[in-house]
Amino acid sequence: MAILMENFDWANLPFGYIKTDYNVRCVCKDGKWGKLEVSTSEYIDVHIAATGLHYGQEAFEGLKAYMGKDGKIRVFRWEENVKRMAASAEGIKMEAVPFELFRDAMFKVIDLNKKFVPPYGSGANLYIRPLLFGSGAEVGVKPATEYTFLIFVTPVGPYFKGGVKPVNMLICRDIDRAAPLGTGIYKVGGNYAASMRAIIAARNGGFSNTIFLDAKEKKYIDECGPANFFGIRDNTYVTPKSESILNSITNMSLIEIAKSLGMKTERRQVPVEELESFTETGACGTAAVISPIAKIFDPEKNKIYEYCKDGEPGPISMKLYKRLTAIQSGDEADPFSWVTVID
Ligand code: PLP
Ligand code: COI
Repeated sequence: MAILMENFDWANLPFGYIKTDYNVRCVCKDGKWGKLEVSTSEYIDVHIAATGLHYGQEAFEGLKAYMGKDGKIRVFRWEENVKRMAASAEGIKMEAVPFELFRDAMFKVIDLNKKFVPPYGSGANLYIRPLLFGSGAEVGVKPATEYTFLIFVTPVGPYFKGGVKPVNMLICRDIDRAAPLGTGIYKVGGNYAASMRAIIAARNGGFSNTIFLDAKEKKYIDECGPANFFGIRDNTYVTPKSESILNSITNMSLIEIAKSLGMKTERRQVPVEELESFTETGACGTAAVISPIAKIFDPEKNKIYEYCKDGEPGPISMKLYKRLTAIQSGDEADPFSWVTVID
């Protein structure tokens, strides 16, 4: 049954799952992709020995569609998500989704669910979740010969409650989400499974999320749960370079925006002690957008790093936030050609 939209409270949507009308799916058998199918079911029939279930052969993406003032839907830098999903597929030896299939599937599922794109100015967006997993049966540890690719969409509000309201983070030293030469650079489910204990511990302690440190030396900042980290000092945007973090498309974009605003940018190892010298810090990602950080607690050193002392986000974080979201929604020109407008 089609869903009625009258009861949607767009301005107060959580970052969660809401059923939409359609999803799209495609299966690859022995290296040959089949036809793209449209489905109204929220379920999939999966083989009990699928490698995606047993051995974590699974990767996903996350991107958003934005409603503009002009009533046109815009999708942000989706080509980067196609590339990253192909890299994730290669990283855990799955069949990569061809560019054209990803593109056609994504624009189709947006078109079919147009009425779920939250209105301009509501603060909510349509989250697009592509998923690829080994659906073929194996018992030995080896890549499947069958893969399923699907995309569902769901309207979402900001990931961190309160949108740009500053959040508190807990530094995590006793759990690693990914090893230096492991799968941290890929968007694969195993990394998220590995992060759950740390996230729950942070939430139980009253924090929004956790900051992982480099797994080898515990000296450098890796990332903030499901988002990258940045710090601001002296008109410089600093963000960690690490071989175990996800290369955030939002972060890549913020680096370009910062440069265009006349800031210096540094992508390098960021020692924990450097937290002392930043005037602003934040988490960034598709879901997080920019979530300014108010406080970071380091339990080992029993130390609190404080930003946003008046409870307000810092001026540079806000400037970056406004510029990024204005480009995404079409409020400002897109000098980087990042946005695809759906007519
Ligand atoms: N880091 C992790 C672990 C993530 O899950 C995400 C979300 O995709 C990000 C960073 C941010 O990446 P992006 O800006 O491409 O969404
Ligand atoms: C995103 O920012 O798109 C993500 O994928 C984060 C998600 C794991 C909640």
